[in-house]
Amino acid sequence: MDFKNWYNIKAKKIDQHLSLYLPESDNRQKNIYESMRYSLNAGGKRIRPILMMAVFEIFKPNEEDIIMPLACAVEMIHTYSLIHDDLPAMDDDDYRRGKLTNHKVFGEAMAILAGDALLNKALETVLQNQDLMSLSPEIILSCLKMLMRSAGTEGMIGGQVVDMFVAERSMEYLEYMHRLKTGALIRAACQIGAVAGGASEEEILKISQYSDYLGLAFQIKDDILDVTAEESDLGKPIGSDEKNDKLTYVTLLGLKESESLLEQYTEQAIESIKHLGDKSQRLVEMAEYLLERKK
Ligand code: IPE
Ligand code: IPE
Ligand code: MG
Ligand code: MG
Ligand code: MG
Repeated sequence: MDFKNWYNIKAKKIDQHLSLYLPESDNRQKNIYESMRYSLNAGGKRIRPILMMAVFEIFKPNEEDIIMPLACAVEMIHTYSLIHDDLPAMDDDDYRRGKLTNHKVFGEAMAILAGDALLNKALETVLQNQDLMSLSPEIILSCLKMLMRSAGTEGMIGGQVVDMFVAERSMEYLEYMHRLKTGALIRAACQIGAVAGGASEEEILKISQYSDYLGLAFQIKDDILDVTAEESDLGKPIGSDEKNDKLTYVTLLGLKESESLLEQYTEQAIESIKHLGDKSQRLVEMAEYLLERKK
């Protein structure tokens, strides 16, 4: 199967499961479900759950149903991070995934609550479905530990803090920030796929290395797209970083050097998993897709 078809099938599977885990509601607080579903279904690329599934598939082919709750949980946490990232108190952006941002449609109070609720729902989804997951309680706990840590103050939230309150405009600072705010969740997605798949210590290490390079490459590309993309492709405003005087690869190194670093990290990501041979095909394709993406 070619990569595009493979990717679309995976994305569709995630969409279906997200709807399953977060059905519509008709009670008094039904508007929060509407707000959560609005952002979840707005058309994200789903790269974190797809990476998790791709890694898992290396070790347990055709059994991906097992990790759907964890795959959806990482997407819920990512979506919550975007809802909050777009708030006036943070990046103050009006468009996301080609649609008005959550607070523009539902108001700030609901956007804050919907973000909070998605974080909660992520954990709840895994806990409520653990019997269906055919994984030992120890493995599930270890996956949850990785997920929650990667989203917290030593991961995504920590990175957002470093991003919002820039103390220093250096490469070291920038890379620290990117590793946390974007890298951590990508790393957790890949590690969970490996641990749940029963990978060996050595394999987990190599996959973590892949995900570290991929995470950095991913945020460099995000920084580049903020300057070079077409708004209609990107689905979020161009020039948001400049508007907010953000520290990014582009503002620190310029476009050309950022592009060469992006290529270098992508190559290093691919290099890290070469020893897996044919089994690494989808991970190589993911890295190449993320390098070339227009949104
Ligand atoms: C955007 O992430 C935010 C960053 C961490 C750079 P994505 O580019 O994965 O956003 P969606 O999920 O496809 O909208
Ligand atoms: C945010 O980074 C990463 C998150 C943890 C949400 P950005 O602020 O660069 O993400 P975009 O460009 O708004 O998607
Ligand atoms: Mg931001
Ligand atoms: Mg932003
Ligand atoms: Mg950005």
